[in-house]
Amino acid sequence: MKITAAITGVGAYVPEYILTNHEIEQNVDTSNEWIMSRCGVAERRILKDVDKASAFMAAEAAKEILRKKNLSPLDIELIIVATVTPDHPYPSTANIVADMIGATNAWGFDVQAACSSFLSALFTASKFIESGVYKKILVIGSDKMSSIVDYTCRKTSILFGDAAGAVLLEPSEDGTGILDARMYADGSGKKFLYQPAGGSIIPASIESVTKKQHFVTMDGQSVFKFAVVKMADVAAEMMDRNNLKAEDVAYLTPHQANKRIIEATANRMGISMDKVMLNIEKYGNTTSATIPLCLTEWESQLKKDDNLILTTFGAGFSWGGMFLKWSY
Ligand code: UT7
Repeated sequence: MKITAAITGVGAYVPEYILTNHEIEQNVDTSNEWIMSRCGVAERRILKDVDKASAFMAAEAAKEILRKKNLSPLDIELIIVATVTPDHPYPSTANIVADMIGATNAWGFDVQAACSSFLSALFTASKFIESGVYKKILVIGSDKMSSIVDYTCRKTSILFGDAAGAVLLEPSEDGTGILDARMYADGSGKKFLYQPAGGSIIPASIESVTKKQHFVTMDGQSVFKFAVVKMADVAAEMMDRNNLKAEDVAYLTPHQANKRIIEATANRMGISMDKVMLNIEKYGNTTSATIPLCLTEWESQLKKDDNLILTTFGAGFSWGGMFLKWSY
């Protein structure tokens, strides 16, 4: 039978500090009612420790998997970290995580595709499993969004939070695992959601800091219009390509950017909201962590052979979908 890449374990880490809408109301001109009705976020987690960042959260999520699966870090052959907030521009966060967890046999690299980073990393990792090159891969999504959010900006400070989530990928021959995926990119969307400075086009300078160019810059409405169509389109495409009807889908696992975008996607798929993994209310948009954080939270409810559709949309623009059969 064909070898597929199966998720055989999940883990997550969320920081303790809870940033509520009430606290945000103290800093910017907004209200709990506006935030709840426009995006569905009630609170987010913030990593307050100044000496900890994305690698720390990623390592904690990875360690949870190793504990649950009773695995040695030496068994891990590859670590892919999905992140837009690496600890440093280089080396890769994956290398730092490997060192933190003691995975000294592993190769590692990072994948960056904004909010689509995790699905991009998972798709990439699946090919290393299907080809037989590796048998144990950790795919981790981790973002310390609080390091690039301007807390004096009401358009963005309401949305984002910090977290990490991870999955273990192993080969399967029982027909479960990742069965299909399509990823898309449209670079003309760059201007609607990006971090202007800190890369090679605007290196850090006193001017770039004064102009607040190291923060998330977003034209929310333009992103929303594109996201609401593309995330629903790709979910429908996954169903069509794999002959799935609404009743065949056990769960939709969407990137958590805005509750209204997720509702539109579920509506297009013809599934009710009780089949949607939705935790944006508690964590906000944690960028690369949203999907593995959902899988970890829903793990106890998932059954072998459940059909899951994973979808994402983010800056770039970048978006995509995946169809997988749950493996345990
Ligand atoms: O994961 C990465 C991808 N990112 C996304 O998918 C984000 C997509 N966009 C969104 O989720 C929504 O656009 C937001 C939640 C960011 C904003 O909701 P919106 O319904 O698109 O609001 P808007 O930007 O069109 O603003 C509507 C009004 C404006 O006032 P006027 O010009 O109509 O007087 C804004 O100034 O709401 C105002 N506004 C706010 N009011 C209270 C904007 N932010 C706030 C706020 N509190 N926090």
